[in-house]
Amino acid sequence: MKNVRAVQNVLFEKYRNFPPFLTIVEKKLGETIVSVEDLFKFYGIKSNNIIITTIDKKRSLKRYVLKRSSAENIVNEFRGTELISKYLPVAKVLFTFKVSGESWLLRDYISGVSMADITNYFEQLKKIQQLLELEREKERIIVNGYIKLENKINSKDYLVLPTNKLFHQRLLGERYRDFFIDGEFMSLYINKRVVLNGRKFPLTLAEIFQNLKEKYSQTREMAVFPGHGDGHHGNMLVSNEGKITFFDNEYSCIMPSYMDLSKPYYNDLLGMLFYYFHDRLLDYFSIKSYDEGKTTLNLKIKLNKKIGTRMEITKIKLQERRNFLKDSQNYLKLNDYLFMCHTLNKNPNLFPKKILVIFLAFSEILNEFDSFNPESIYSYF
Ligand SMILES: Nc1ncnc2c1ncn2[C@@H]1O[C@H](COP(=O)(O)OP(=O)(O)O)[C@@H](O)[C@H]1O
Ligand SMILES: [Mg+2]
Repeated sequence: MKNVRAVQNVLFEKYRNFPPFLTIVEKKLGETIVSVEDLFKFYGIKSNNIIITTIDKKRSLKRYVLKRSSAENIVNEFRGTELISKYLPVAKVLFTFKVSGESWLLRDYISGVSMADITNYFEQLKKIQQLLELEREKERIIVNGYIKLENKINSKDYLVLPTNKLFHQRLLGERYRDFFIDGEFMSLYINKRVVLNGRKFPLTLAEIFQNLKEKYSQTREMAVFPGHGDGHHGNMLVSNEGKITFFDNEYSCIMPSYMDLSKPYYNDLLGMLFYYFHDRLLDYFSIKSYDEGKTTLNLKIKLNKKIGTRMEITKIKLQERRNFLKDSQNYLKLNDYLFMCHTLNKNPNLFPKKILVIFLAFSEILNEFDSFNPESIYSYF
């Protein structure tokens, strides 16, 4: 035992003093920790996750991922994983615990490559067939879950589901205020009418937000299915054999199919460009002119080239879910969810000016383009 600890201390300076959360993990597992590594999210972003390697009683090595998050997120993730594991292949959650005011969750380690990394790699190449096949497989798995359970719920019950937290609290909570009311730049644009390449959009951003808030106050029944809720490429791993496993099930629950689709639709298509790859976004679009009046924002933006691979992937998502997206009864439309993904994820006040301008154009486009034909985005340029 002493030798084992010595190895760990040499390798992982940061955890040398063996903090209490590691002792708890050892106790709960009945195994001895031999290494602890910080884990990075896709594209080198540091995550709150740690990889733990242990030796069990039979002297074999085991690996786990230990996640730290807010108490509420951990509870939701535990609950979400329990529910969705009936319908989707997910990383097993072994237990959760609290220590020194922090909440933790332990899940099985899954060996594989994140789909975000795979997409990023294949996007640069011409051979994307393998990638499209993976996307098809992923969508088939999701739709399988939909087939197993279809329910109707009242919008009042929907509002309190953890799955709705993703959008509801953002729209009616601090994010909306921080980003659009108190934010340095966006507060200047929220009431301006946008004209993009001569096309005047009927609603200002403030009016689009207002419409969404009004929809939230309506009562109606809606069709719901068991969904991941945040099933974008960063929350799935692909093994060497091509097996897909999901994780990060904080929002997993029953939900309208539009809601389940909107996150991966947005994140895997435009979200990555707005978040991580500004330079690539500027490869696709260039700003020809920017003219700001008192009440109007006049933009001329040129499409340099089409968004190839990610557009293909999005079309596959839609194809596979086609039968579940017909329901006209639903509360919010796919466009509403896409608009919220775009406007409520990352603080737009922090974008470089060029990106902010394209962001504004896309806020309007995502509210009104034909979301079942994602290529219709191009008709605005
Ligand atoms: N079970 C797992 N096996 C292997 N890697 C994992 C596992 N769970 C998470 N990861 C890695 O940790 C990263 C962050 O995990 P995630 O639960 O999605 O955290 P966040 O809530 O910060 O998005 C993932 O992108 C993935 O690379
Ligand atoms: Mg995640």
